[in-house]
Amino acid sequence: MQAAVIGIGYWGPNLIRNFLASEKIDRVYVFDINKSRLDFVRKRFPLVTIADNIEQILNSDKIEMVAIATPVDTHFDTAKKALERNKHIWVEKPFTSSVEQAVILNQIAAERKLNIFVDHTFIYTGAVKKMKEIIDNNELGDLLYFDSVRINLGLFQSDVNVIWDLAPHDLSIMFYLMNKKPVAIAANGVANYYGHENIAHISVYFENNCFAHFHVNWTSPVKIRRMIAGGNKKMLVFDDMENSEKIKVYDSGIEMKEKEGIYHALVQYRIGDMYSPKLVHTEALALGVEEFINSIIEKRKPLTNGDDGLNVVKILEASDASIKQKGKLITL
Ligand SMILES: NC(=O)c1ccc[n+]([C@@H]2O[C@H](COP(=O)([O-])OP(=O)(O)OC[C@H]3O[C@@H](n4cnc5c(N)ncnc54)[C@H](O)[C@@H]3O)[C@@H](O)[C@H]2O)c1
Repeated sequence: MQAAVIGIGYWGPNLIRNFLASEKIDRVYVFDINKSRLDFVRKRFPLVTIADNIEQILNSDKIEMVAIATPVDTHFDTAKKALERNKHIWVEKPFTSSVEQAVILNQIAAERKLNIFVDHTFIYTGAVKKMKEIIDNNELGDLLYFDSVRINLGLFQSDVNVIWDLAPHDLSIMFYLMNKKPVAIAANGVANYYGHENIAHISVYFENNCFAHFHVNWTSPVKIRRMIAGGNKKMLVFDDMENSEKIKVYDSGIEMKEKEGIYHALVQYRIGDMYSPKLVHTEALALGVEEFINSIIEKRKPLTNGDDGLNVVKILEASDASIKQKGKLITL
């Protein structure tokens, strides 16, 4: 199989490295509109083939897969062109700049029986896989809430706000773990420096009082990457800044007891043991590339596909709308 990577800025080289490492791929083409990036690639990855222009990639009958790692507002045009030339596509997060664009791409892919892989990288990490296993085994019981913080100093993006840059990671994890459809969202945020919000909070509401919250910030003096999944049996904390013990499962919770004869509830706190499960450390992108290729060979949708990309973009778009109206609740 032959693959191409379009866009070799910060993230593209990671895709090149992982495509080159795959035994199922025997040639990797690359293209970037910035010539200095192509010079960099030539030195760093002597085995790749540099394309003169994007058409050379799109016109090739041999290239089956095209990975798009360009800025978000260019995803749609390149992805649409690639699908229309019968290429399976890998699109970086966030999938598209709007819900409308995501729907169009999914439709073209369905009509042409092509695969869309959306790079929700975290889904392929050992930590998120373990969290999924714990939740699916019902160890936490019914999920009550999901609470996520992803904050650090920079990197400001010129084309999108902090939500479109950072929240796709956490939203994709939420969808994967919770397996529930959100019903409404509300978001608040401010742009302290230029047009795009640098700090934001998103609240996501599900049925049965289930709730998720996301805090993203490019202007925090400390880097925090932490999420909590709270169940009615146990609770789980994922701290991605930890080198070992990234996940901790707490046998803690709250029980409401009614005292006989007294008509107000008594809160009882349960603080039990904690354990930290062993995690697999294979590089997530390597597993993502394997899943993309296998899904094409097996003629099935990949684990992180265009529908997942669309679900995330729906929340991103609704968040922008809510922020403009000072946190108005937006029904999904
Ligand atoms: N999955 C992840 O964890 C992860 C991490 C970082 C970035 N990303 C995503 O990857 C994408 C790229 O981000 P980045 O940080 O590498 O951006 P970047 O600005 O560093 O690189 C983008 C590159 O695309 C090139 N480019 C722009 N328009 C092009 C076009 N029409 N044709 C060919 N090349 C073009 C630019 O010259 C540049 O080299 C974004 O969607 C971003 O959200 C994903």
